[in-house]
Amino acid sequence: MKVDVILGLQWGDEGKGKLVDVICPSYPIIARFQGGPNAGHSLVIHGKKMVLNTIPSGIFRNGSTNVAGSGMVLNPVGMLREIKQLESLGIPVKERLVLSRRAHLILPTHPLLDSALEQVKGDDKIGSTLKGIGPAYSDKTARQGIRLGDLDNGRLEPNFREQIARHTNELMRFGADLSQLDTLCDEWMRSLDEIATYTRTDTEFYLNNELDRGVPILAEGAQGTLLDLEFGSYPFVTSSHTTVAGVCSGLGVAPHRIGKVMGIFKAYCTRVGSGPFPTELNNETGEFLRQTGHEFGATTGRPRRCGWIDLPALRYAIMLNGVTDLIMTKADVLSELTEIGVCTHYRTSAGQTSHLPADLEGVEPVFRMIPGWHHSLTESTSEDSLPPQLLHYIDLLEEELNRPIRIVSVGPDRRQTIHRG
Ligand code: IMP
Repeated sequence: MKVDVILGLQWGDEGKGKLVDVICPSYPIIARFQGGPNAGHSLVIHGKKMVLNTIPSGIFRNGSTNVAGSGMVLNPVGMLREIKQLESLGIPVKERLVLSRRAHLILPTHPLLDSALEQVKGDDKIGSTLKGIGPAYSDKTARQGIRLGDLDNGRLEPNFREQIARHTNELMRFGADLSQLDTLCDEWMRSLDEIATYTRTDTEFYLNNELDRGVPILAEGAQGTLLDLEFGSYPFVTSSHTTVAGVCSGLGVAPHRIGKVMGIFKAYCTRVGSGPFPTELNNETGEFLRQTGHEFGATTGRPRRCGWIDLPALRYAIMLNGVTDLIMTKADVLSELTEIGVCTHYRTSAGQTSHLPADLEGVEPVFRMIPGWHHSLTESTSEDSLPPQLLHYIDLLEEELNRPIRIVSVGPDRRQTIHRG
């Protein structure tokens, strides 16, 4: 059996949460492989909006097992809050959640370091979510991080004290306010004690054994390909591997175990935080997309930057991930527009290119304008009910991207999902 993957092809916020929830009935196990509470996966369940930060989006499905894999970084305080909220809705989280013993912990000082590091960058800020993601992964790479499994070897508390002391010295050099640190550390320890009552295991063995038993697994990506540490718009990226490679390293599954790779993208494009965005619209149309698409960060509430779809960027993301199937979301947001822009290639100092260069600074998008559809899609439930201009847009994208668009999402609810052959 294989691990099928669903991951974002743009700068995150493509609608992964909803789509995982829609397709997860086919997968008894859903596993997150990277990132942490910087993610905000929004789902609408029976008309009620839910945002998941750390817990995989399969948690609402009866009988599912949801794995937080070893490539993730977990903050016990936020994760406990999320769990309690789910439990208050009657979701039996204890039965459905499995945590990797290898997952690293975000310490109370990591978000403080995140803020301090951003502040000294001034105008070159990354626009981090300030959840401590970068500092936690830095400690992991520097081989001084603390793992959830350290709960079992007696090293957690001494290592915690040592790391906090080291971070405190660093924060004092930045002149950070440390008045709340003791309170934060107490809360962190109390939360970790409770998290310790949830299942933790060597999830790499669990997942491989389940595959051997014939159980299909869905790997759920967070953020998006263009925020990948290796291949994203560096340095304006997150600190984890958001591409399919991250599935192997973050879950402990071998490349031959990867099955379908479902790449998800919006019918336009957004980005939150700083960094280059060639197709950005700093005009009324951009504002229209932001308001109509409710483009405000699910985790931080920040307004998202909006622009037209970017085909060179999508082709690049499809190549890096070996995407087999495409999923397009938020087509409904474009419904009222007379014309829709499609960036087909870029103009650079070296000439025209349909490739995404390693440095995006200064590239100019070349747009082709196509007619809009002026037709509300929110009640559409099948391909027959889609307007011809939208079908033309879908055909154009399939031809340009050389992959089939298998699902078109036309609203946040589970039911607003059109499956195509
Ligand atoms: P960090 O991962 O919080 O350090 O943020 C690094 C960059 O990735 C910033 O530009 C964030 O806005 C962006 N980012 C992180 N997580 C997400 C996400 O889930 N959706 C969209 N952007 C994200």
